[in-house]
Amino acid sequence: MRFMAMASSFALFFLLHLHFIVSLPATQPVLTVASTSRAPPSSAASLLSHNFYHRTCPDAEGIIHRKVLAWINKDFTLAPALIRLHFHDCAVRGCDGSILLNYRRSERSAFASKTLRGFSVIDDIKAELERKCPKTVSCSDILTAAARDATILAGGPFWEVPFGRKDGKISIAAEAEKVPQGHENVTTMINYFQNLGLDVLDLVALSGAHTIGRAACHTFQDRLYNFNRTRKPDPILKPPFLNLLRKQCKKGMDLVHLDATTPKMFDTAYFTNLEKKLGLLMTDQALISDERTSSFVNLMANQPFLFDSQFSASMVKLGNVGVLTRKNEGEIRVNCNFVNPRRRK
Ligand code: HEM
Ligand SMILES: *[C@@H]1O[C@H](CO)[C@@H](O)[C@H](O)[C@H]1NC(C)=O
Ligand SMILES: *[C@@H]1O[C@H](CO)[C@@H](O)[C@H](O)[C@H]1NC(C)=O
Repeated sequence: MRFMAMASSFALFFLLHLHFIVSLPATQPVLTVASTSRAPPSSAASLLSHNFYHRTCPDAEGIIHRKVLAWINKDFTLAPALIRLHFHDCAVRGCDGSILLNYRRSERSAFASKTLRGFSVIDDIKAELERKCPKTVSCSDILTAAARDATILAGGPFWEVPFGRKDGKISIAAEAEKVPQGHENVTTMINYFQNLGLDVLDLVALSGAHTIGRAACHTFQDRLYNFNRTRKPDPILKPPFLNLLRKQCKKGMDLVHLDATTPKMFDTAYFTNLEKKLGLLMTDQALISDERTSSFVNLMANQPFLFDSQFSASMVKLGNVGVLTRKNEGEIRVNCNFVNPRRRK
C-alpha cells in the first residue's frame, strides 16, 4: 500500500514537472516539454549561477545561513517575514533589492509595505559580508538566500539558489502599492503573476508560503463583519472559525496565523485548510473556488512531496524575476538602505 502511494506520488511528480516547470536553475540541464507560461526564457536570469561567489566570497552562503539561523532562533516570526520580504522585492521591479531602499517614497514607505519585516536581518548580514568580502555580495542575493534559509529553518524544502543579481537604483512607493493585498479575485492574481513570468501553478505553490506567518486583521476584516458590502460576514466562514477570528481581532493591527492549524510548520496544512474552509485571507480561500486553481490546491493538499518540490521550483523562478545581471545594470550596494554614493570626478 505504502509503496503504491509512493509510486503514484512519483508519477504525479514527473507529470507535473514535465508539463509545468519552465525554468530550472540556469546552470542545470533544463527539462522543458510544454509550459503554461508565456514568458520567454530570461537571458538575464541565465547569467546567474550557483558558484557565482565561489572565488570572490566563498563563504557567502555560510555567512548568510549562520546569521539567518541566529536571528530566527531568537525570533521565529522572522522566518515568514523574510520569505514575504523576498516576494515583495521580486514583485516590484524584479529581485533587485529595491524593497530595501529606505527613503521617502521608496517601495518600503508604501502602505502595502507597512507590515514588512526582516530589514535588520539583511542589514546585519550585509555588514558582516562587507567586512569579509567588501563590495562583492549584492543585497538582492542576500535577500534571496535568506528567504531560502528561512524556509529550511521553518521545516520547508532546500533548493539551490543561483547568484549574481545586482541591486537596482530605483524604488517607487506607488509601484509597491500594486502588490496583491488579500482582496483580489483569482483573475487579478493570475494576471499579476503572469506579468512576472509566473504561471498558475507558481501562484498556487507560492501561496503555500502562507503555511507560516501572520496577517494583520485589517487585511481580512471585511470577511468578519461586512463582506462585499453586505453588512454580513463572508458566508464561506463557518461559525466556529468566524467567532475565533472575531475574538482574535480587536484591532486592525492585531495579528492572526495564516495557517490556523499548524502555524509554525512549513507543511501542506495551508492547502488542507482551504479544503476545510479555514483559509484566512479572501485570496487564500478563493484559490479553491476557482477551477483554474482548485485542482492544484487539491494536488498540493494531498502530496506533501509534490508541494515541497514545486515550491522549490517556483521559488527559483520567483528569484529570477527581472534580475539585473548585465554589465551596465545595477550595482553592488554597500549599504542595502541606500544607492551607492556617486563617485566624484
Ligand atoms: C497571491 C498573492 C498573495 C497575496 C494576496 C498575499 C497576501 C498577503 C497578506 C495580506 C499578508 C498579511 C500582510 C499583513 O499582515 O499586512 C501576507 C503575509 C505573508 N505572505 Fe503573502 N500574499 C501573496 C503571495 C505571497 C507569496 C508569493 C509569498 C512568498 C513566496 C508570500 C508570503 C507571505 C508570508 C510568509 C506572509 C507572512 C508574513 C509574516 O508573518 O510576517 N505571500 N500575504
Ligand atoms: C476581478 O477584479 C478586477 C479588478 O478589481 C475587476 O475588474 C474584474 O471584473 C474582477 N473579475 C471578476 C471575475 O470578478
Ligand atoms: C460581491 O458583490 C457583487 C455585486 O453585488 C457580486 O457580483 C459579486 O459576485 C460578489 N462577490 C462575492 C465574492 O461574493
